[in-house]
Amino acid sequence: MDLPWGDERTKQFATNIGLITSNGPYGYNIMAAEWTHQLSYSPGLIGVSIDQKNATHSNIIKKKVFGVNLCAYDQNILSSISGGSSGKLVDKIGAIKELGFEFFKAKKIDVLMVKGASMQAECKLIRKIIFGDHTTFVGEVIELYPAGQKEPLILYHNKYWKVGDNIPRPQQQEMIIIKGILEKHKKDNKK
Ligand SMILES: Cc1cc2nc3c(=O)[nH]c(=O)nc-3n(C[C@H](O)[C@H](O)[C@H](O)COP(=O)(O)O)c2cc1C
Repeated sequence: MDLPWGDERTKQFATNIGLITSNGPYGYNIMAAEWTHQLSYSPGLIGVSIDQKNATHSNIIKKKVFGVNLCAYDQNILSSISGGSSGKLVDKIGAIKELGFEFFKAKKIDVLMVKGASMQAECKLIRKIIFGDHTTFVGEVIELYPAGQKEPLILYHNKYWKVGDNIPRPQQQEMIIIKGILEKHKKDNKK
């Protein structure tokens, strides 16, 4: 079955917003990608799922590198601009700079990174896999900057959110009971 954009059920996903920076046929560019995830610890891999029509798609195919900047909660404007128009038609970097936001040059690859983002990683493309109408670009992290001071912006129900109340892990007393139950449900691994 299809899972169309805006379906009430898939709005239950709560995600980060990756601000994906690139360079290539469309010049220095930035796009918003909620489908941005860490895929592996060793080596450190990040996957980004990008519509084949996007300027970012062509840029990454050409240069084989990209920047992952996790949008901070006070950068919602960056998410809306980056996700609201294409680098095929608009110099989003120029527009964002005019609004007072800053970029800096990446250390190891030729892209711009977003100042003040919650996380900034420079990635070298190691694989691209077509999944339906998107391509997942798998990047090996070759440079990771110190964590930003600000928490990430969250996308949930098509709205922006700030990280809220902490839900404590189960108390020790509850864990003792849970451990007892797990013990009872242990599988017989002799097979
Ligand atoms: C909050 C938000 C999240 C988005 N997530 C994705 C995503 O994960 N993958 C994708 O291909 N497009 C996503 N988009 C849409 C692209 O950002 C949009 O098509 C953008 O114009 C592409 O820019 P480009 O053509 O300059 O690469 C998202 C847009 C917004 C506003």
